[in-house]
Amino acid sequence: MTKQEQYEQLLPQVQAVMDPTVDLIANMANMAAMLHEAFGFWWTGFYRVTGNELVLGPFQGPLACTRIPFGRGVCGSSWKERRTLVVPDVEQFPGHIACSSASRSEIVVPVFHNDEIIAVLDIDSTQLGTFDEIDAQYLEQAVTFLKP
Ligand code: SME
Repeated sequence: MTKQEQYEQLLPQVQAVMDPTVDLIANMANMAAMLHEAFGFWWTGFYRVTGNELVLGPFQGPLACTRIPFGRGVCGSSWKERRTLVVPDVEQFPGHIACSSASRSEIVVPVFHNDEIIAVLDIDSTQLGTFDEIDAQYLEQAVTFLKP
């Protein structure tokens, strides 16, 4: 199966699992779990906008930094620039925050609600160049399933 086919199969399942009767954290937890299991990523999770920083949310994988300031690292930059960031080699990204030395490439997708960023989805891989426009496109679609 191609990556595209995997996303085509997975995304309707993720959407079906989203439960409007529970809070955002519960739905983020299931979304992180489903993406992580399906693709075998190294780290898959959310940071939520809390005041002027990002705070660690539901995730799968090894422990991570709990706070990321606005504009810092890949996550804080995605928040500041209001767009998805695909980083093929984290060592080439100025200011990258290394929560784990095993992480080699990364994608960060902002989660919008009413034109406001409420969180970011961060996925890390132990391989270089794991993420591309296909991941960006499908993950941007996935995060639209999250409703606060
Ligand atoms: N590498 C991220 C920090 C979060 S961890 O990778 C889970 C960054 O530079 O924002």
